[in-house]
Amino acid sequence: MSQLTAAEQFDPHNPQFTSDRFALMAQMRAESPVTFLPALHVYAVTRWQEVHDVLGDAVTFASSEAFSAGLHLAPEASAIYSLTSPLFAYNPINVDKPLHNRLRDPLMAAFTPKRTQSLAPTVIADIEALLDAIAESGSQTDLLLSLCRPLPLQTICRLLGVPLSDAEKLSGWSDALIAFQTPGLPVEVQVSAAHGLRELENYMRDKIAQKAAAPDEGLISALVSGRAAGENDLSDDELVADIAVVFFAGHETTINTIANALHSLLERREYWEAIESGAMDIDNLVDELLRHDTSVMGLYRRATVDTEIGGVGIPKGATVWVSYGAANRDPALFDEPEKLQCPRGNARQNLTFGYGAHYCVGPLLARLQLCEAVTRVAKRFPAMRLVPNAIIPEIPHHGLRAPISLPVLLK
Ligand code: HEM
Repeated sequence: MSQLTAAEQFDPHNPQFTSDRFALMAQMRAESPVTFLPALHVYAVTRWQEVHDVLGDAVTFASSEAFSAGLHLAPEASAIYSLTSPLFAYNPINVDKPLHNRLRDPLMAAFTPKRTQSLAPTVIADIEALLDAIAESGSQTDLLLSLCRPLPLQTICRLLGVPLSDAEKLSGWSDALIAFQTPGLPVEVQVSAAHGLRELENYMRDKIAQKAAAPDEGLISALVSGRAAGENDLSDDELVADIAVVFFAGHETTINTIANALHSLLERREYWEAIESGAMDIDNLVDELLRHDTSVMGLYRRATVDTEIGGVGIPKGATVWVSYGAANRDPALFDEPEKLQCPRGNARQNLTFGYGAHYCVGPLLARLQLCEAVTRVAKRFPAMRLVPNAIIPEIPHHGLRAPISLPVLLK
């Protein structure tokens, strides 16, 4: 056992970081409710109760400037796309009320459960088509590329009402939202990300104009028609940001969660077999997979006053890293938390979709895709297994849990 504190060991640049992260988080939870991480210059909150409390108090722990406080963008990048441009200034994840409600309420009104339910038949058809292609492709596949990635990309395009053929282009641009907010990036990477964001903004602007002229069944059209009918008074800049954030937040998160979940299930044969034979409580399994395998490990808040979390002082202006992934494995709430365990009575108490004012707007759609992907792939390929001895590396990022590939044998 290392003598170093968890804070001293927490270094996302360490090649061991992703394989050690849950052990490190367990150590952090055990040592203190709050851990100052010198590598990130943030206060990390890792216990379920405190994560819940911080997320529930959006006045003391604000979202505005939480991401961007420590960023120093190169002037070359800022000249193309700055942190005051629409995709940041009007991104609901980055703002507080009243602007937050102004941006979020129309989204919630348009993104109804009925809208998600209406997508179910196409989600299922898309999965079956992807599985057909996998079956025809040979004896081995990278599930990340052949299923986990295309499915949420297609779903989010269908939700918004944009052509599936634009999915990859949009995904490339929206990745820039993460790149742009990563400290210490080389100038040329920042500049390329800035161009991507400008393109994404322009694309969404064109779509708004198109939907105003020719309405359809998609979410963009619902927001645009809602504005025309006086149900919201979002400006074009605000609408563009709302739509772009749905695209961004709705696909990457789901891709990585489905991949993490399939990876976990393939390591537990008995679960794979139970799904295949219909012996599994799938609803509970989905909750448990969300708890055990979330892809969003943590996001930021900014302390608006001198305050405390779990008795630990936090100075005004400090950045707090709230870890949903660590909270989900808190032994104070979940027995044997590191184990995927179904049935688990309180699996639904996971904080995978956040809590409070910024609670995710897409849990239903994410659950639908996760549930259908997991059950259909296990039923179609009962003998599927991970390629023996394959290493499944993850993106080296403290806030994301995302495999780089998921190689499997079909038989
Ligand atoms: C498994 C998949 C998903 C995960 C793990 C996830 C996770 C999260 C989390 C943790 C937040 C809270 C952010 C905060 O606390 O500041 C959030 C917010 C959000 N999510 Fe999701 N999400 C998923 C899927 C989706 C989908 C499918 C959509 C839309 C189609 C979506 C759209 C959003 C939006 C728009 C917000 C911002 C809400 C706000 O700030 O008011 N997410 N998501």
